[in-house]
Amino acid sequence: MNQVAPLTFLCDVQDLQDRAARGFDPFDRGRDTVLALLLDGRPKVYRNDCPHLNVPMQYRKDRFMTPGGEYIVCFAHGARFLPENGLCVSGPCLGQSLTELACLVDGEGRIWLET
Ligand code: FES
Repeated sequence: MNQVAPLTFLCDVQDLQDRAARGFDPFDRGRDTVLALLLDGRPKVYRNDCPHLNVPMQYRKDRFMTPGGEYIVCFAHGARFLPENGLCVSGPCLGQSLTELACLVDGEGRIWLET
């Protein structure tokens, strides 16, 4: 028998915008432990955990992106990550990646993390 992963509610799709990441605290840790954005209307979710020093990446609430949304940025030392796959393309953790979290969208447009 297959195990079904427990689901944790993240937000509604309509709460996100294309190439504009927001922070969330779906596990009640008292800080935004994940970031989420839309790419061509589909959600992408990553841990808010820079692979350089394992610290949160935003410099203030919901500021994770370069202007225009080309890259996710760690504001500690300027690492830049591709929103499409979390790969670091410049900075001290070049070649490493953000940890992507699997998610699904239900029929009512709610995003759930598969945890
Ligand atoms: S901690 Fe993110 S670039 Fe250094």
